Amino acid sequence: MAGARILAGMLDFTDFDTRGYRTVNVPTGYGRWVRTYEDTVEDTMDLALLDRLTVPAWDSVRRAADLGCGTGRTGAWLRARGVAAVDGVDLTPEMLAVARGKGAHRRLVHGDVRTTPLDTGAYDLVIASLIDEHLPELRPFYDEAWRLAAPGAHCVLVAFHPHFIMASGMPTHFTDEDGEDIAISTHIHLLSDHVSAALGAGWQLAEMREGVVDADWLTVKPKWERFRNHPVSAALVWRKA
Ligand SMILES: C[S@@+](CC[C@H](N)C(=O)[O-])C[C@H]1O[C@@H](n2cnc3c(N)ncnc32)[C@H](O)[C@@H]1O
Repeated sequence: MAGARILAGMLDFTDFDTRGYRTVNVPTGYGRWVRTYEDTVEDTMDLALLDRLTVPAWDSVRRAADLGCGTGRTGAWLRARGVAAVDGVDLTPEMLAVARGKGAHRRLVHGDVRTTPLDTGAYDLVIASLIDEHLPELRPFYDEAWRLAAPGAHCVLVAFHPHFIMASGMPTHFTDEDGEDIAISTHIHLLSDHVSAALGAGWQLAEMREGVVDADWLTVKPKWERFRNHPVSAALVWRKA
């Protein structure tokens, strides 16, 4: 896009925004979205991609750090695949309260994924699903994941695909109880931004999958017909060699 501004090496979502929704910060937004979050987030976005990964071997994971754990969807998915213990961190108390009720996590902590209070080198899996678009920069996330990871650990990140954010002009958003569509602060990270940040932190790429708007997607989102076959999410698996 001609004239798209590059901020600190990254694209600025406002250059792509076709919705113009009022934008709020992460804890404000998720604190209000929490009532309907699990009814609106689609498993095809993230859990279907996790299902397609060949690494890590989930049932051999003893301890996982679930960064941006939200209401516990990712944690519950991990436990169902045999992960022994999952510790979660999230910035939004209301999301953590729902996760607490779900009971999938061994420990739940209110905090920022870039500066968690979790133990250094304690995890053989660090996972973050659908949170990276809320981070202005990726490197602090990948650095913190590296600190938490034991030697040989994996880091799995599932992202709202940058192509889809740009092509749709749609930020992460929800509809509040008054019917207003509200955006939650959204940043665009190209896949090359992930590669640069993760390699810089020390990670090696082990696997990558992209999800497109396919027949399954169109069953749950018929109005996305114009995005048929566009990439909508991505899963990156990193290894601490
Ligand atoms: C779309 S939800 C994803 C939740 C969960 N991983 C899932 O897949 O359902 C994004 C979550 O990331 C959290 N989040 C965003 N930025 C964060 C940050 N810097 N530190 C901690 N949590 C953050 C939000 O509070 C929210 O619960």
